[in-house]
Amino acid sequence: MIVAKTIDQIRNIVSQWKSDGLKVGFVPTMGFFHEGHLSLMKESLKRSDRTVVSIFVNPTQFGPKEDFSTYPRDLDRDLNLAKEVGVHGVFIPDVKEMYPSQNKTWVNVEDLTNHLCGASRPGHFKGVATVVAKLFNIVQPDLAIFGEKDFQQLQVIRRMTADLNFPIEIVGAPIFREPDGLAMSSRNTYLSREERKSAICLFKALQLAKRLVAENKVTTASQLQRALADFIESFPFTQIDYIFVGDPELLEPVNEIRLPLLVALAVFVGKTRLIDNILIR
Ligand code: PAJ
Repeated sequence: MIVAKTIDQIRNIVSQWKSDGLKVGFVPTMGFFHEGHLSLMKESLKRSDRTVVSIFVNPTQFGPKEDFSTYPRDLDRDLNLAKEVGVHGVFIPDVKEMYPSQNKTWVNVEDLTNHLCGASRPGHFKGVATVVAKLFNIVQPDLAIFGEKDFQQLQVIRRMTADLNFPIEIVGAPIFREPDGLAMSSRNTYLSREERKSAICLFKALQLAKRLVAENKVTTASQLQRALADFIESFPFTQIDYIFVGDPELLEPVNEIRLPLLVALAVFVGKTRLIDNILIR
């Protein structure tokens, strides 16, 4: 496995592969790998001849009061896991390599970022879209894989890729979960033992949403939101950031329940903000 720290290094490697006629898959990450990250790498390995993974905790997508400085990091462990899975190249730039000076150019994806995490984390998707556009230009892969765990991020990247004409196929991969249903996340390590028990409320609330919709127990979004809020609030340490009920393509809230329906949650469990979602068809 090749480990590249600079833009020149990774560009040279990928251009060599491409001139050999090999298809290149790309998995951008912020590291501290769990099975969810590894599942994206495996998907890329299936779909392409060479897989590049980037590990970069991107400062521009964190708000001033968010966890950039404390975000979990373990590069040695990550490199070992990537190697075990069979990844061919890892790109690990430092902040100076990615942002040698104050960025003056930003990628802003409109409308799709008005709700969900776009509303509760102002500037977040501007940072995400910008760093992913930079990574796409640096790595120049044929395809890139993103998790449905971050549903809004996936839609934002799809739209950016289309709008800016990146010749890259965007692939969505399903949410990887712990045995009890909790969506895997690097941030789960923040949870205390008691908080970890409460964290299951997100997955359970989404299952409840699916049932309520399937059995026609709710007809409006506000009925569904009320039922989910009551359920989540019955777990200790929880504080709801948002319960989104809406259109999975436009990422706009709806009033009346209609399929397909995206139900997406952001819930603080203690100080840890967790997200999860379900697409009901
Ligand atoms: P990060 O949170 O490290 O996630 C990297 C990729 O792993 C994302 O595509 C995310 O959706 C996916 N992922 C996370 N948890 C998952 C799970 N439980 N199952 C399946 N996939 C999962 O998302 C980012 O980093 C950053 O915003 C990034 C795109 C790298 C830009 O900085």
